[in-house]
Amino acid sequence: MAEQGRNTLTVVDNRTGREYEVDIHDGNVINAMDLRQIRVKDDDFGMMSYDPAFKNTASTRSRVTFIDGGEGILRYRGYPIEQLAENASFLETAYLILKGELPTQSQLDQFVHDVTFHTYIHENIRELLHSFRYDAHAMGMMVSAVASLSTFYPESKEILDADTRWIQMIRIIAKMPTLAAFTYRHHRGLPHVYPENELSYTANFLNMLFRIGVKQYHPNPVLERALDILFILHADHEQNCSATTMRVIGSAEADPYVSMSGAMAALYGPLHGGANEAVLRMLKRIGSIDNIPSFIEGVKNREERLMGFGHRVYKAYDPRASIIKRTADEVFEVTGRNDLLDIALELEKIALNEEFFVSRNLYPNVDFYSGLIYQALGFPVEMFPVLFAIPRCVGWLAQWEELLRDDEQRIARPRQVYHGSGERAFVAVDER
Ligand code: CMC
Repeated sequence: MAEQGRNTLTVVDNRTGREYEVDIHDGNVINAMDLRQIRVKDDDFGMMSYDPAFKNTASTRSRVTFIDGGEGILRYRGYPIEQLAENASFLETAYLILKGELPTQSQLDQFVHDVTFHTYIHENIRELLHSFRYDAHAMGMMVSAVASLSTFYPESKEILDADTRWIQMIRIIAKMPTLAAFTYRHHRGLPHVYPENELSYTANFLNMLFRIGVKQYHPNPVLERALDILFILHADHEQNCSATTMRVIGSAEADPYVSMSGAMAALYGPLHGGANEAVLRMLKRIGSIDNIPSFIEGVKNREERLMGFGHRVYKAYDPRASIIKRTADEVFEVTGRNDLLDIALELEKIALNEEFFVSRNLYPNVDFYSGLIYQALGFPVEMFPVLFAIPRCVGWLAQWEELLRDDEQRIARPRQVYHGSGERAFVAVDER
């Protein structure tokens, strides 16, 4: 038996009685590859860990985002999300996430300038978007449009060149609002509005979305700031499903556009970024406060899920949800109150006092209230996941950059535990 006080783990293989000592690093982490030495015979493959859905597997060391799910803490590069939402702009936050430090004024001016001057998209992409059906889902269009950017910037394949990577990141952050706005105008059958360089990131986006019949569009500053805050809150969330997708595709050294298109496809799922859309549909279906008790019964009977509740990491109130709830109050003061908010508030109150939700640590997540704000800002539900994807591209790109700079990373390739048939002889079709 190894002596106590060492930063190691002793494993005894009861099949052989052999004892192994494995290093512990970063407080509570062992390397899965250290298990490989545990074998019954010399030619065994060695021990593996089995972890469907990566519930207890760290796939990287990261310096981007810190989450303490038990305490409800979220920090980008060490800065608490509450302070960034209160004091920073989205582009300032984006710079922080990508570069690791808050920008100086001149760095910020340069970054804002660069993003502003890359907002236009090639006219062929406008035509590509135009070729979709009138009712095509906005996320399907966006996933395709982002993948298509790869063909317009073939130099993006030079993924090992830091300068080339940076210019693609600028392009992506700059073009996402343009693609999103053109997608929205396509659904509405409206002519596209081209980017305006003198507007802020979010004001330009609102202008491209909503300007109609006037030369100048002046978004309400409260709504412009609310959207900026929502963008800050959604900018990164460490190794979630879409960030992992970005890293997995990126590990094959694919270019950032196709990698990000895959990440966006993951985000589109209703258990991930599609949840904000699902919340709105759920609230509409519930329809009135009187129907909440029967809805809750249905959730408890596992007929459906309470969308916008629960999180793989947070086992406390999602800190983003608290900020969004406050932002919603400011938005509703401008736009007028939304009936669905009353249903959401009552639903939250009941759920937080129900044993089913309390015992499973199910609290509102970022998506529970964000959809209500998006709706108040005038967005149709199909645009909700797109509004998540625009800021999240920053996090995906930061994760991608970190992956490419990480000497420990290789092409992602999990193992499996094979449960299929053993070898069998082929049977001709007329003999089956
Ligand atoms: N409604 C009802 N029951 C739930 C919910 C929910 N929203 N979420 C989890 N549970 C139950 C689940 O049935 C299970 O119960 P039991 O142990 O008795 O079988 C238990 O809670 C644990 O759930 P899980 O599915 O094992 O947890 P997970 O970590 O795999 O799933 C989740 C996390 C976010 C997918 C899940 O909570 C969920 O489906 N929530 C609704 C969708 C949603 O709001 N997604 C947005 C997530 S935040 C934004 C983002 O990151 O994209």
